[in-house]
Amino acid sequence: MQRIISPSLLAADFGNIQSACEMINRSEADWLHIDVMDGVFVPNISFGFPIMEAVKRYCTKPMDVHIMITQPEKYVQRFAKFGADTLTFHYEATDQAADIINLIRKEGMHPGIAINPDIPVSVLEKHIGQVDLVLLMSVFAGYGGQQFIEESYDRLAELTEMVKRINPQCRIEVDGGINKHNAGRLFELGADVLVAGSSVFKAEQPLVAIHELLTA
Ligand code: DX5
Ligand code: ZN
Repeated sequence: MQRIISPSLLAADFGNIQSACEMINRSEADWLHIDVMDGVFVPNISFGFPIMEAVKRYCTKPMDVHIMITQPEKYVQRFAKFGADTLTFHYEATDQAADIINLIRKEGMHPGIAINPDIPVSVLEKHIGQVDLVLLMSVFAGYGGQQFIEESYDRLAELTEMVKRINPQCRIEVDGGINKHNAGRLFELGADVLVAGSSVFKAEQPLVAIHELLTA
């Protein structure tokens, strides 16, 4: 499958969202990652619909929306309305994962399911056949700028085997602490989409940083 870089807006300068979006438009990144946090599911609050609205105005690339919120089912329709292309919720946030996946698809978005580093990869087995994307967190959801957890390599290998066996069309996304030093190994182990916040938006030359991740 094609390699995709999805820079996380969380690390951008919010005083200048337009220029962040224009950089993404000019770049080799195929998606833009949008981290929505509610202060309940994770101990941090990021941003919500008004920012998505601004992004939609300026960004020509698909919005890859990662929701770290409780009761995700309540907001699925609004994420569709605000232009999400892929909507990824956390397995740990609900006991209605199958229904939420169906709802996301019904609303015209690609459904994705995410797990934190302390959740066994095996819990995804029963959902992989239904989703278009699985997101493996390589840090604990909540903050940008954290250090990549090394155990993620073995978890990714396990997930890759499962996805190949059950639903080879499903994309595997890895999120957290990704930079040019670990990106190559993650792609080799089966990642299709790499999220990168700090290593793109805090770089002196974000366009070069994106290229380096893609070719790592
Ligand atoms: C963490 C978010 C990540 C984060 C990545 O909860 O889901 O997408 O923004 O940021 P970096 O690349 O800085 O770890
Ligand atoms: Zn994310």
